[in-house]
Amino acid sequence: MMPMDWDTLKAACLACEKCDLCKTRTQVVFGTGSPTAEVLFVGEGPGQKEDEQGLPFVGRSGQLLDVYLETIKLSRQKNIFIANIVKCRPPGNRDPLPEEREACLPWLREQFSLIRPKIIVCLGRIAAQVIIKPDYAIMKEHGTWVEKNGVWMTATLHPAALLRNPKQKPLAFEDYVAIREKIHEVCAHTY
Ligand code: URA
Repeated sequence: MMPMDWDTLKAACLACEKCDLCKTRTQVVFGTGSPTAEVLFVGEGPGQKEDEQGLPFVGRSGQLLDVYLETIKLSRQKNIFIANIVKCRPPGNRDPLPEEREACLPWLREQFSLIRPKIIVCLGRIAAQVIIKPDYAIMKEHGTWVEKNGVWMTATLHPAALLRNPKQKPLAFEDYVAIREKIHEVCAHTY
């Protein structure tokens, strides 16, 4: 993909027809937050509410995500960016297919190149397997950190999984506390 500025990238992404999800989507969910954020959160893909509103994490799992963000003084209005592996809703909320991920990944790569975050937080298994490593075991490895080319990466449990298994909420809380510590360590203007 050619180097682009943020607005050009967004306009091109909103018009994307690189996979069949364009046929069933209502809106492309480009992502939301600050394009100069030092912390990038990456989810799996839009659900129904996100598809309707064109914004990531606006349904029930988004409300839970916002609670965790608030506890560590992060906000989608101010100091983070939130994106997804696939920008269009897979019908019936199925997992995105490998070819859909492949078609969509250049958009996330370009967002990453322009934002140049210091920290990437993967929300759930799918994002962790795409961004950190293909065999990422979310229950075993969430909350651990790897550094790749100067970027610190971690994953936490997907908020939708926490809604299904509320007993796991304290595990996620620990991950967010560790994220706050890492921000203090490596970020200059997030807090
Ligand atoms: N789940 C995700 O992974 N992403 C969203 O944007 C919403 C729900």
